[in-house]
Amino acid sequence: MANSGQKVVLITGCSSGIGLRIAVTLARDEKKRYHVIATMRDLRKKDKLLEAAGDLYGKTLMLLPLDVCSDESVKQCISNVQDRHIDILISNAGVGILGPVESISIDEMKRVFETNFFGVVRLIKEVMPDMKKRRSGHIVVMSSVMGLQGVVFNDVYTASKFAIEGFCESMAVQLMKFNIRLSMIEPGPVHTEFETKMMEDVANMEYPGVDADTIRYFKDVYLPSSIDIFEAMGQTPEDIAKCTKKVIESSSPRFRNLTNSLYTPIIALKYADETGGLSVNTFYNLLFNFGPLMHIAMSILKCLTCNCLRRRTISPN
Ligand SMILES: NC(=O)c1ccc[n+]([C@@H]2O[C@H](COP(=O)([O-])OP(=O)(O)OC[C@H]3O[C@@H](n4cnc5c(N)ncnc54)[C@H](OP(=O)(O)O)[C@@H]3O)[C@@H](O)[C@H]2O)c1
Repeated sequence: MANSGQKVVLITGCSSGIGLRIAVTLARDEKKRYHVIATMRDLRKKDKLLEAAGDLYGKTLMLLPLDVCSDESVKQCISNVQDRHIDILISNAGVGILGPVESISIDEMKRVFETNFFGVVRLIKEVMPDMKKRRSGHIVVMSSVMGLQGVVFNDVYTASKFAIEGFCESMAVQLMKFNIRLSMIEPGPVHTEFETKMMEDVANMEYPGVDADTIRYFKDVYLPSSIDIFEAMGQTPEDIAKCTKKVIESSSPRFRNLTNSLYTPIIALKYADETGGLSVNTFYNLLFNFGPLMHIAMSILKCLTCNCLRRRTISPN
């Protein structure tokens, strides 16, 4: 049970990766300011979290089952929280999907939206009325830079993150009237099981209905550059947990929070040209014309990201 003065934080998707790390980081807060309710859809996967939490479990961290794709599971979980009182909701659970769109069934696409869009909405709908009554609360949504900028062969994942960005951007205005803050965390690549799961899916992938050229662009052009980008720009779940902690501890939390300053110029391209030509052409050239020079391009991006741009991101340090 939370002590008076402690903030109750509920986090989804804590069996691995970013969710697990945020749960442990907040539970380990030196001043014990947080009572963390770490949730996962399958409690049989709890060992990794409990190992990382050590003796925090049962003190500042507790565990509840929650499947964001199930109305019943969401309702049950929130009603198991004392007085339904949640100060901070961190909606982190998400799934990825990669590959030529012709080879992805509509059912697979719906599964992604069910988790990454409806899963977040379902939870916000359940938690928001109590926050509104109390005129306080903070909702933090794990989005992605792919919620701001489309990325080739990530069409469906990107669409699910754009959808939740649009939903939250609209909701933030109404919620502000109730003194409820809404913040998006927008990481670039992060080394978690997310990346491993997607690469496994790709290894097992068949490409029904996809022409040979598209398969070649995906496997021989996109995948090597994607691996390159992960290696050059990848952050750790710890980095994202630190950024998230900064956001919830800010006296005036920002709506958008890019965690990786290397992405600031990429996002800036989009807003620099409202026709969209600049970003579409830049991505086309980077992938198809300057593929072998991607590594150099990334080094240039690193130089471009000077301190004046850095303040537009939320640094983990
Ligand atoms: N890794 C990246 O490069 C990256 C970059 C930007 C944004 N993100 C976002 O960060 C978030 C966390 O991803 P991650 O990198 O930490 O990946 P991860 O290690 O695969 O973790 C994803 C978590 O979501 C959970 N989950 C999936 N479907 C769920 C459902 N229906 N109900 C409840 N939990 C569910 C998974 O549970 P199971 O173990 O049961 O599957 C797992 O705990 C996602 O929203 C992702 O889109 C990741």
